[in-house]
Amino acid sequence: MYRSHTNGELTSEHINQEVILSGWVQKVRDKGFMIWADLRDRYGITQLIFDEERTPAVMMEDAKKLGREFVVQVKGTVIERESKNPNLPTGDIEILVKELTILNEAKTPPFTIEDETDGGEDLRMKYRYLDIRRNPVKNKLIFRHKVAMEVRNFLSTEGFIEVETPYLIKSTPEGARDFVVPSRMNGGQFYALPQSPQTFKQLLMVGGMDKYFQIVKCFRDEDLRADRQPEFTQIDCEMAFVDQEDILNIFEDLTRHLLQKINNVSVDKFPRMTYDDALRLYGNDKPDIRFGMEFGELNEVAQHKEFKVFNDAELVVGIAVPGGASYSRKEIDKLINWVKRPQVGALGMVYAKYNEDGSFKSSVDKFYDEEDLKQWAEKTKAQPGDLICVLSGDTNKVRAQLSALRMEMAERLGLRKANEFAPLWVVDFPLLEWDEETERYHAMHHPFTSPKPGQIPLLATNPAAVKANAYDLVLNGNEIGGGSIRIHDKATQAQMFEYLGFTEEEAKAQFGFLMDAFQYGAPPHGGLAFGLDRLVAILGGQETIRDFIAFPKNNSGRDVMIDAPAPIDEQQLKELHLNVVKTKE
Ligand code: AMO
Repeated sequence: MYRSHTNGELTSEHINQEVILSGWVQKVRDKGFMIWADLRDRYGITQLIFDEERTPAVMMEDAKKLGREFVVQVKGTVIERESKNPNLPTGDIEILVKELTILNEAKTPPFTIEDETDGGEDLRMKYRYLDIRRNPVKNKLIFRHKVAMEVRNFLSTEGFIEVETPYLIKSTPEGARDFVVPSRMNGGQFYALPQSPQTFKQLLMVGGMDKYFQIVKCFRDEDLRADRQPEFTQIDCEMAFVDQEDILNIFEDLTRHLLQKINNVSVDKFPRMTYDDALRLYGNDKPDIRFGMEFGELNEVAQHKEFKVFNDAELVVGIAVPGGASYSRKEIDKLINWVKRPQVGALGMVYAKYNEDGSFKSSVDKFYDEEDLKQWAEKTKAQPGDLICVLSGDTNKVRAQLSALRMEMAERLGLRKANEFAPLWVVDFPLLEWDEETERYHAMHHPFTSPKPGQIPLLATNPAAVKANAYDLVLNGNEIGGGSIRIHDKATQAQMFEYLGFTEEEAKAQFGFLMDAFQYGAPPHGGLAFGLDRLVAILGGQETIRDFIAFPKNNSGRDVMIDAPAPIDEQQLKELHLNVVKTKE
């Protein structure tokens, strides 16, 4: 028996009991005649004591050999501590050691295994297994487990069945590149790893499963960001015989359940906003509505003077930054430089201070008088004391730029509070999106998404205006889920592929199996997938998903611990029928 108790459970109730503990040595304090060691495991820390008077001399010698992260087993008696530590659940007691077994020695770890560590990000990633011993990382993994368990319980209670779908499949278009796997038995042919189980879950609906879910890995070869990993986890769901309303309701219930269970936060009905309104009011399809600073469009009240920059712009739009009227010239210049950074890309910024006394001072006083600026204040809902920041130019670009400024200012002003939760449904997404690069329309969500009833004829005349029964769930400015009502008949699906530029042969080769299935009694169906990593991170009060993944990849898509990706040997390449042209090192 390695242990009778864990290192987190002994209290003064156990005094005088004989116990066996195992774990890692976190810290040793050697006073010569007395040695204390902190023994750690997943459950906590228990203090061990060896002292000259009560401990045999040989064991004193062994205790002196203990180093950080040694794995040991001890037998001993629970005794009351002389100086108690009220910050530890086990802080009232210590173990007077009677037997010490060193189960494994350890090299000195490359960084300290404590809540505050001296290890940099790269080092900690290389030795992730050591990082996982630290509370902040360990607790995030436990937190993730709790969320996943709540999800499983909720969905299972609601009648959803978890079904696994294959990882070696054919390309599913979710908008990113595929990771591909060469087939040894089928020379020159490749599997693709799923970007999502989209087509399979639809086939499960044709198969009559009615309510499906799966906590599932998805793979996307795309540029990485704080909220993106090349392999990530979805809570993937699909339901038959439902309309959009049914889906929004059930997954709103799931999210509300999680907020209640995990964060102890009650949220009423989630607000809903159309995609068009989200862009108009926040410049963004995933608005953070924990704070205001809504956009005020100013074309009407800013294009009637001689200011050419505004007059030539497609959109003139501003936000009111609370308290910003007191910013110094230098601070405002810094802000202007911030919006001009290539990552934001604005050409400049016009500002107007709405002073506490009701007067205005702007960077364009030459063109606009107090009456004009008053109207700007009305449109941006500015209060005395605010700074109105105005950007202008091409609508899409300017919205993205002002949205970046809005988020930045909210961050600086402390308005993005981690313990406040503001979920939002964004609905009525456009079906299609114009892609400048390929100069054609792409499916905005994916090609299986159904246009809104009655809008199919619009596809021929004004494709950009066609709306879909597609929705995203946004939490605190992050897209945590998205889905749609699907097409469930062959003719419409074929038509959709045609609009997306597939030839009949291409559509058949790639998705013939789905269109065939639609001929055998496909029920109306729809669904949604949450990004589990994102959901967990946000419920945990953070936006970087990497911390909530046991073994994440770095920003270049590498696992620096196992050093992947890596070359494979010639023989393996040959078997896979691959000719890799070696570039010079
Ligand atoms: P979508 O592509 O919107 O929809 O993905 C669903 C959710 O998955 C999360 N997500 C990611 N999380 C981490 N890293 C990534 N690289 C990444 N990409 C996406 C997001 C997103 O909202 N099959 C459809 C769902 C459906 O229609 O039912 C789909 O995959 O939180």
